[in-house]
Amino acid sequence: KNKPAQPENDKTAKLESFVADSTGEFLTTNHGVRINDDQNSLKAGERGATLLEDFILREKITHFDHERIPERVVHARGSAAHGVFKVYEDMSKLTRAAFLCDPGAETPVFVRFSTVAGSRGSTDLARDVRGFAVKFYTQEGNFDLVGNNMPVFFIQDTVKFPDLVHAVKPEPDNEMPQAASAHDTFWDFISQMPESSHMIMWLMSDRAIPRSYRMMEGFGVHTFRFVNANGEASFVKFHWKPLLGVHSVAWDEAQNISGKDPDFHRRDLWDAIEAGAFPEWELGVQIVPEADEFKFEFDLLDPTKLIPEELVPVQRIGKMTLNRNPDNFFAETEQVAFHVGHVVPGIDFTNDPLLQGRLFSYTDTQLIRLGGPNFHEIPINRPVIPVHNNQRDGHMRQTINRGKTSYGPNGIAANDPRQVPAAQGGFVSHNEAIDARKIRARSRSFFDHFSQARLFLNSQSNAEKNHIIDAFSFELGKVKAIPVRERMLAVLIQIDKDLAGAVAQALGLKIPKIPLADLNNSLPADGKRKDYASVNP
Ligand code: HEM
Repeated sequence: KNKPAQPENDKTAKLESFVADSTGEFLTTNHGVRINDDQNSLKAGERGATLLEDFILREKITHFDHERIPERVVHARGSAAHGVFKVYEDMSKLTRAAFLCDPGAETPVFVRFSTVAGSRGSTDLARDVRGFAVKFYTQEGNFDLVGNNMPVFFIQDTVKFPDLVHAVKPEPDNEMPQAASAHDTFWDFISQMPESSHMIMWLMSDRAIPRSYRMMEGFGVHTFRFVNANGEASFVKFHWKPLLGVHSVAWDEAQNISGKDPDFHRRDLWDAIEAGAFPEWELGVQIVPEADEFKFEFDLLDPTKLIPEELVPVQRIGKMTLNRNPDNFFAETEQVAFHVGHVVPGIDFTNDPLLQGRLFSYTDTQLIRLGGPNFHEIPINRPVIPVHNNQRDGHMRQTINRGKTSYGPNGIAANDPRQVPAAQGGFVSHNEAIDARKIRARSRSFFDHFSQARLFLNSQSNAEKNHIIDAFSFELGKVKAIPVRERMLAVLIQIDKDLAGAVAQALGLKIPKIPLADLNNSLPADGKRKDYASVNP
């Protein structure tokens, strides 16, 4: 209403019914009673005590007292925008997801970019991973592509996520440093987690200090599945390619900007959209036929590996345009709840152990962050299509479910929601064959931690390589515990001798001969592992 320049879509039109525009209206209490004066409390006499009966005061203060909700446990600092997505061509050979099969369809999206480690008020220009979370409001329900601006991740198994995040967050005794990885606990963890080597190369590269959210790539990271109407599946990696290209700032610039304008990325995104310079990304997919699952030197289920684009090119299948700023930061950007488990028919999971654990974590955290089981009713989280099921009640329930139905099967009520036969479009999990024994161990196919770290380094120009050396030297130079610096050098030499040598020189240290076994923090049950020496440079 108050943003005529910014286009409406299905979703923003639906949000309108929740919008309050107070222009020219009388002030009221939350119960609609008009207020003459909310600047003076009700007192017994001019200098008298304040009266408990003052419901205007009580209501105003009580609401204020309860304004804060927990910030996200990770990705607390973020900025978001509305937009639309359109697929270029019918993808029905690969997936039955309707929004990917109809080039005429325009699917509303809400996209939130974020840093990972810092708190809500931290600087945008920290050296960090950036979140790139997209909610597609499709005609078959919400599909969330909850990705990052880097194609791989630190750890191979979700069970390590609390350790990783505790290590990267400010240290537990003094809550320092804010929004920076340059500290002992982080490098202590990383130096004992060789599987993080590939991700660390990205994190020490220019990719970790983007010029703008508009100039970042996005990646779904995990291998997902496309499933077509015949139930045939293929593996898929998702990519976002920014039409403005990928750009970064230099570390000196990042530090300057952090001081002068900690909102730099947030402002850039907001201003661009206000000015009508709508940022655009193409959605890319790398498709691997099911039959090719084991054709690669790495495991498609390992989230520390990418599929080199030389091996499987990225096909660009559609375009996303962000064209409208939110009306209200809290209601939209803060209350939006993304979940990697929000999929629509035609998109399915794989057994990537990091993905599998994420499927549990997001709803669980949102239950506390957004205050109970009805956060799907918060306007920004509602699908554009109606919701019908027998879930009922709970804190802050908004829906008024009519009729006698709250269970199924129900032989009495006329309005009992029906189940959809698979043939009519209900979600069907891909019928992957599984025949296995329970085992608490890492897959042996996940053991090569260094080849792709080296591949990434070798893909960089000399200037970019120097930035990586500088970043390691700066970061490790802040680490007080010398054994941690040394352990990290022992990891770096597994990746590249010149890199390790240059960083060691900058730190004034020798590269220690730490037995390689010390680097391996988790042996499988049979005690056998690929020797790290086999991937030595
Ligand atoms: C939040 C991406 C791994 C737990 C987020 C967000 C993104 C993201 C983009 C912010 C969403 C937003 O803007 O609201 C990723 C990626 C991962 C990854 C790409 C690895 C490939 C994990 C793992 C866990 C996890 C392994 C836990 C087991 C969380 C939690 C939040 C979050 C608890 C906060 C959600 C909320 O409060 O709404 N993640 N994440 N993430 N992630 Fe992840």
